[in-house]
Amino acid sequence: MTVTTNGATSGASESSWGDNGRREVNLGPTGRPRPVFAEPVPRQTHGPARVVAMVNQKGGVGKTTTTINLGAALAEYGLKVLLVDFDPQGALCIGLGINPNSLEMSAYNLLMDKHISAEEVLLQTGVENLDLVPCNIDLSAAEVQLVTEVGREYVLGRALKPLLPHYDVCLIDCQPSLGLLTVNALACAHGIIVPLECEFFALRGVALLMDTIAKVQERINSDLVIEGLLATMYDARTLHGREVVESLMGAFGDKVFHTVINRTVRFPDSTVAGEPITTFDPSSLGAAAYRELAREVLSRWPAPATMAG
Ligand SMILES: Nc1ncnc2c1ncn2[C@@H]1O[C@H](COP(=O)(O)OP(=O)(O)OP(=O)(O)O)[C@@H](O)[C@H]1O
Ligand SMILES: [Mg+2]
Repeated sequence: MTVTTNGATSGASESSWGDNGRREVNLGPTGRPRPVFAEPVPRQTHGPARVVAMVNQKGGVGKTTTTINLGAALAEYGLKVLLVDFDPQGALCIGLGINPNSLEMSAYNLLMDKHISAEEVLLQTGVENLDLVPCNIDLSAAEVQLVTEVGREYVLGRALKPLLPHYDVCLIDCQPSLGLLTVNALACAHGIIVPLECEFFALRGVALLMDTIAKVQERINSDLVIEGLLATMYDARTLHGREVVESLMGAFGDKVFHTVINRTVRFPDSTVAGEPITTFDPSSLGAAAYRELAREVLSRWPAPATMAG
């Protein structure tokens, strides 16, 4: 889709010259002129990390896929990236080729045993600049055990603190619930990304999610911001997909990322291979989409020097 602009330059938007000699601004899938997001300048120094939680209590919307592939794309741009698997299902581990059932140490030990240091739990992945705090089903016990703890919302933040100076970004993959584990992620995050699947019930439950975020902002983390809502599993060929993105835009406007992730079987394929799509199929449209998301996310962040520690 395009709109013409009488030959005026389109600033930082993607544009091309049409047949009639007029400049045409390309509209992206969200119906807005599609900006060009600059590649990040290579960083000379690293840290402290900006912490971003991937949250939606609805299951199967692309939280884990986005954590892996956004993380890998940021790592490819030279940022030091820490991923935290905070869903007891361990899907983030599996997607990176790590068997959650064979872990000696996991996020559970980090949260529950104060003698365990974050470095002891940390794993390197097969991708340069991309490390992982893994977890497995043990973590579901932490949710129960933490209920009676004093300061139970701050346990993850405290556990991750020693690692954050060494990374530029920390992405936390939350489970599909708004329980205590997710609240722990929200309590220590600077920002939230909300992936939403482009299907009929995408917005169902989002009001409850926004309500929870507002309560966390009010009571335990006043600095928390919504970085953006991400439309995933988009199919441009269906009217339905386009309508869902339109309704997202109607409800959240500029909070919706320009970048939209298309539905493609390459994502489940890359999970089976235990690799991010950026290495599994580097020249695919899916890899390009997550690189674009990485650039867009970076464009929304404050300059590194001004980030909170
Ligand atoms: N853009 C996409 N196109 C096609 N399939 C996708 C896409 N994104 C994710 N998937 C697939 O959809 C399924 C659910 O994705 P994912 O595990 O990332 O969601 P989730 O929100 O983390 O789920 P859960 O809430 O269960 O943790 C997976 O099989 C994944 O491979
Ligand atoms: Mg998941």
